[in-house]
Amino acid sequence: MSESRTPQPDAPEAEPAANSYVPPKWRTEPRFPDGPAPDPAGSHHERRIRSFQPRRSRVTTGQGEALKRLWGTWGLDIDGREVLDLDRLFGGLPVVLEIGFGMGEATAQMAAADPDTGILAVDVHTPGQGNLLALAERGGMTNVRVANGDAVILLREMLPPASLAGIRVYFPDPWPKARHHKRRLIQPEFLDLAATRMAPGAVLHCATDWEPYAEQMLEVLSAHPLFENTQEDGGFAPRPDFRPLTRFEGQGLDKGHVVHDLLFRRVENA
Ligand SMILES: C[S@@+](CC[C@H](N)C(=O)[O-])C[C@H]1O[C@@H](n2cnc3c(N)ncnc32)[C@H](O)[C@@H]1O
Repeated sequence: MSESRTPQPDAPEAEPAANSYVPPKWRTEPRFPDGPAPDPAGSHHERRIRSFQPRRSRVTTGQGEALKRLWGTWGLDIDGREVLDLDRLFGGLPVVLEIGFGMGEATAQMAAADPDTGILAVDVHTPGQGNLLALAERGGMTNVRVANGDAVILLREMLPPASLAGIRVYFPDPWPKARHHKRRLIQPEFLDLAATRMAPGAVLHCATDWEPYAEQMLEVLSAHPLFENTQEDGGFAPRPDFRPLTRFEGQGLDKGHVVHDLLFRRVENA
């Protein structure tokens, strides 16, 4: 008699493969009702070198309260499921993406100083998300949205082509060890992606206090065919007035580091 291929109703469930990944609870269970998702789709499960280290950091009571109260209105999970309607989200303002806002103090200052620009601020750092939401609420700002997850997924899956008026990357993780250099955000592949989402004329503004990373940024940006240096001498830019001192920058300056700004314009497609 040939073996039946019909599954038996009381057949035991298949055991998960020995090597299947079971994420720890803190990556899958919500920490704040209606707050940011613990593991927005795509950011942690994708087999890709990431520019950040997932970590569970302590959230203060005030930050937690802000996440619970404000996430539904001003927060955005990077789940990779929909292309965002930036006009709807920002009421038609030109939109600048800030990648890695940390605790968000500088972001809030820039948003307050320029209410005619929308800031889409992305980070994976939960305390910072709560902090920025609280700062924006306190300042009565309506031009900031806080996104939770990996900026690469946001750019690749959720932003339309030529939709951004600028990108800011202030003090990205320097990954100083040679074996970690591949984790640095500013690489040719990232620039390829960023260029597709930036409108012609939009500016990519990077700043770092890590000299070797500054040199790498200058090299890869100068070599990219879709970016041109705003500096005629092809070098670093003076710090623009609109960029406030950031928390990470302050720590670098305390250690005697030198800060470099880079401002590169997205050129028209050839
Ligand atoms: C060194 S901190 C700098 C924070 C802030 N800009 C400052 O200057 O104080 C870099 C931040 O970038 C975030 N980050 C790194 N890669 C990211 C990515 N791919 N998507 C979203 N955030 C990222 C990290 O979580 C971290 O908060």
